[in-house]
Amino acid sequence: MRKGRLTRRDFAFGTASVALTGSVLSPRSHAALRAPEGKPAILGGSPVRTQPFPSWPTLDPIDEEKFLDSLRQKKWCRLGANIVTEFEGKWAQSLGAKFGIGVVNGTNALYAALNALEVGPGDEVLVPAYTFVATINAVIQQFALPVFVDTDPVTQLIDGSKLEARITENTRCIMPVHMGGNVANMDEVKRVASKHGLSIVEDACQAHHAEWRKQKAGSIGDVGCFSFQSSKILPCGEGGAVVTSRPDLYDRMHAFQNNGRDRVTGTRDGYLHQGSNLRMTEYQAALLLGQFSRFDKHCRVREENARQLTALLKQIPGVEPAGMYDQCSRNTYYVYMARYNPAAFKGLSRAGFLKAVHKEGIPCGTGYQALNKEPFLEKTFNSRFFRNIYSPERLKRYREMNECPANDRLCEEGLFFSHNLLLGGKEDVQQVAEAIARVQKHAEEVARVS
Ligand SMILES: Cc1ncc(COP(=O)(O)O)c(C=O)c1O
Repeated sequence: MRKGRLTRRDFAFGTASVALTGSVLSPRSHAALRAPEGKPAILGGSPVRTQPFPSWPTLDPIDEEKFLDSLRQKKWCRLGANIVTEFEGKWAQSLGAKFGIGVVNGTNALYAALNALEVGPGDEVLVPAYTFVATINAVIQQFALPVFVDTDPVTQLIDGSKLEARITENTRCIMPVHMGGNVANMDEVKRVASKHGLSIVEDACQAHHAEWRKQKAGSIGDVGCFSFQSSKILPCGEGGAVVTSRPDLYDRMHAFQNNGRDRVTGTRDGYLHQGSNLRMTEYQAALLLGQFSRFDKHCRVREENARQLTALLKQIPGVEPAGMYDQCSRNTYYVYMARYNPAAFKGLSRAGFLKAVHKEGIPCGTGYQALNKEPFLEKTFNSRFFRNIYSPERLKRYREMNECPANDRLCEEGLFFSHNLLLGGKEDVQQVAEAIARVQKHAEEVARVS
């Protein structure tokens, strides 16, 4: 177990347990929780925090310089220009991958990856039930079936021990998602993939520079996909990238993002493949190159503050931070994920807890909803194009595979703290913990008003 981290083993298992046990924290993380003074704001007290947290995204002079340069060059499209190409090289290199391709967003990065791997009609892709809907949409866009795998309740990531039970003769690909910067169990994903001859597409849209055994997330599977949408820790408004170390997939994805043109020969010998237009613009890449210069500094600040927050929350039963696997050597905390246990708050509901914490000036949200139960899926499966591909019997078998009980529970208990809460000083995370402790101390009265 790594020092300074809470890992899977730090948590007591069992349905009612919220206690953290036996964790080893670095000396820097021995933060003492301040005794919560005063009444909660929801009961008429003064809020713990009145200042906003650091805003996101940030803007530095270098961003303006690079953006304006790209604008003035008047080559806004990447064709015949070089800023996107420069970013692609730098991004791939920073991840230890051989090739990178900029695209319009993370959703289309996933789409390009599946297309290159020829995952399509009739195929099944193993996906986590706890993720952003784009992971699932990309699979559906290829007319394949997303097969949901239950969630590890401790790490809140795809449960590697449940992958094999979901494999059928139609399974083609595993798509682990490194949620919130926390890295999925890639040892298990790789073991299962190699045993069953499956490809791996890492959805690293939330995990820029996170690591598994010191290898960067996104560079471990066949293809890694990234999002640079505004809220992400490396943002440019909208944007995305795929990375790979396989030359065949590189050529194929490069062609795909450029209407099927060959990367080297263009259309001299005809089109390489069916394609789309997912080309990143030059000014998106210019913004990314600007942001890149301070990206690592931000990551280090977040990691230090996350360690501190974990040390503080450890002292508050009932708000349990997501654990990390021992092999996750870096979590870059796009989201600080936790789960809420009302039993430790005198039965105060999660909605009531959130209301009270918001009144203390602390933003916090619920996690994701159970995607395997989203009504849009049934609409999709009943649509003409899916009915043309999948028989009622096949869909019946498919539906029977999609129960995810651990995930259902997480969806009722999940908490998300956005990464900008971790971008300030130690006092900021003290206030987050203090607000929670205060609500807990007065939980019974808070439950009456919420
Ligand atoms: C896990 C995950 N996958 C895919 C995406 C899609 O990325 P984009 O919004 O850039 O299309 C996101 C975006 O939030 C995401 O969180």
